[in-house]
Formats: sequence, structure tokens, C-alpha cells
Amino acid sequence: MARNEDSRYMSIPPGAIVSGSLPKFKIYIKSYNNHYTLWALDGNVVTQEKLNKLAEIGHEEVFIDLEEEIKYEEYLENHLTEIVKNNAITNDHKVNIISRVSTNIVKNSFESTVATGFVKEDIVERIKKLVENALIYINHYNSLPALSKLMGHDYQTYEHATKVFWLTIAFLCKNPDVIEEIQKEAAHDKFDNIIEQCGIAAMLHDIGKAYIPKDILNKKGALDEIEWEKIQKHPLNGVAMLIDSKIPTFVKKAVLHHHENYDGTGYPFNLEKNNISCLARIMRIIDVFDAMTSNRPYKKALTPKEVVKIMVTQPNKDGDKNNGMRNCFDQDLLRKFIILLGKIKITKK
Ligand SMILES: [Fe+2]
Repeated sequence: MARNEDSRYMSIPPGAIVSGSLPKFKIYIKSYNNHYTLWALDGNVVTQEKLNKLAEIGHEEVFIDLEEEIKYEEYLENHLTEIVKNNAITNDHKVNIISRVSTNIVKNSFESTVATGFVKEDIVERIKKLVENALIYINHYNSLPALSKLMGHDYQTYEHATKVFWLTIAFLCKNPDVIEEIQKEAAHDKFDNIIEQCGIAAMLHDIGKAYIPKDILNKKGALDEIEWEKIQKHPLNGVAMLIDSKIPTFVKKAVLHHHENYDGTGYPFNLEKNNISCLARIMRIIDVFDAMTSNRPYKKALTPKEVVKIMVTQPNKDGDKNNGMRNCFDQDLLRKFIILLGKIKITKK
């Protein structure tokens, strides 16, 4: 069936195309009469000279056929390091690409877990690589303010995991003392890199939702008792999916405990204070912050400022958490998180 030209193509930033690479998809430019013309054939090397010419003509976007989107996503993931290091690409475009690659990994992890019942090793390796790139981005580019572009939007499971991942990595980068504390708790585990492992926990923290039907996850009204029970099982289901993997115990524990509240009102075990691991206590803060600053099916997004206010306020006697959640969090970590939000300039929104 013939498709309208504009609905057939997707705009991508030229900076996403790495010089010397061999994209497996065709790239088009839009000419002055709004026609899409082939600029690079799939499987051909894109030279720096070709990219320079494109810049000279002033093309700020190139296009791909939407049917080749999966090939484009694979390409972005395989070339993420070069893209992150490319000074010719704006921070906003970088954040979009990074977000796309991260969300795609979460999506693939959910899909493959539903199919097999466990998290495959290649997903873990892809997350480790993503952490490497996240560290390059956060440590070497003035990237924290750009990360604010990731925040907000709709609360979808994949996007949520992406945002929790980026905030967790940014939080750890800025708080080496917290990394030390996590390291102590993980003293009996074997692994190469602690931040990589924390990234795996953040990306996969909700993997137990993979089996929860979408109509429950996206329900507009209040959940009934059975639905709520299913939701509350997701930390346990998540850890069951990770049980046979080589992932260290502290990561599995963080997945299991990411809904435990500091005051013992969380689930599944009503753990309190430091019986909840440090990483799980961080993820609880970030998880709540992202959920409340995103549009959820039953509630509109609050601004970061409104959410921070709720997070630092003592709850009312009626126990309505929307009036104050202070007791749910480790106060020291919450303070550090709010300082990070200031650096991302997210509270200005
Ligand atoms: Fe969760």
C-alpha cells in the first residue's frame, strides 16, 4: 500500500551517523521541494567528507524509512560511545538517542523474559555497556542539565526503568561515599564494577512486571484487591527471573526490596531502616520521584518541586501518602538526591 511520504520517514540527527561506519539502513535527505532523496545506501561506508558536505549544505536532519527503525536502533546501540563523544551533536539530541537506546534495552529485556521466564545474559551485557556510556556522558560532558529532558512524560514501564537507570547512575557518580556503602554491603559478592551492577538493578528493578497484564498496569481507576496483590508481587517475581543468572546477590536484593519503605510500610516484607539495602533505599527514592513526576493513568504528573515537597513533608494523621511521604525514605539519601536534582536543574521546571 502506498504511504504518504512524510509518514514513511523518520527524522534523525546527522550527528547520530558516525563517520566511517556502515549503517545497515538507507539514509535520505529532504530536498527543497519536500521530496526524500537517497543520501546513503545501506551497507556503504559513510565518510567524514560526505558528512562535512551535508553540514555545508546546512541539513539539520536526515531521514530513515520507518520500516528500518529496528536496524537504526541497533546501530545507535552499537555506536553509542562514538555518538556520546561526538561534539558535533547537541546535548539534547544525545539525550534523545541515549533515552531511545536505554528504553529499547528495557523493552527487549521484558520481551525476552516473557518468552523464556528468565533474564538472558546478553541483556545483562548490553546494560553493562550502557553503563559505560552513561559514565562517559555524565562525567565528561556538561550533561546533567540535559538529563532533565528525560524526565516527566508518561509513566510507561520501559520509560520509567530508563529514567530510574539514569538518575541512579547520575546519583552514584555524584556520591562516591554512597558507592562505598554499597560496596561494603556487597563485600561477599563477585563482580567487576559496582556502578555497572547498580545500573543492572535500576534497569531491571521492575522486570517482575513483565507478566502483569497491561490492562492492570495501565488501569485508570483504583485497583481491586486481586489486581493490587498481583502488582505487589512484582519484586518477588522479578527476583525469581534473576535467580539463576550470574547477577550478584546485592543486585537481586535491590530488585526484591525496591518497594520497601524506611518506616516499614512498604512491601513485600515490611522491612525497616538499614534492613533495606542501601541500593534499594536509593531506588525507592528515585522510583517514587519518577512515578510522581510522570503522567500516570489515574493521576496527572506533578512538578518536580511539588513532588520534592511531598517527599520531605511529614505525613498527615490520615496516612494519605500524597500529603507527605517523608518517613518512607532514608533522610540522608533523600537530601543527597535533592542536591542532585538541583544540579540537573530539574526543580526549576
Ligand atoms: Fe516497582
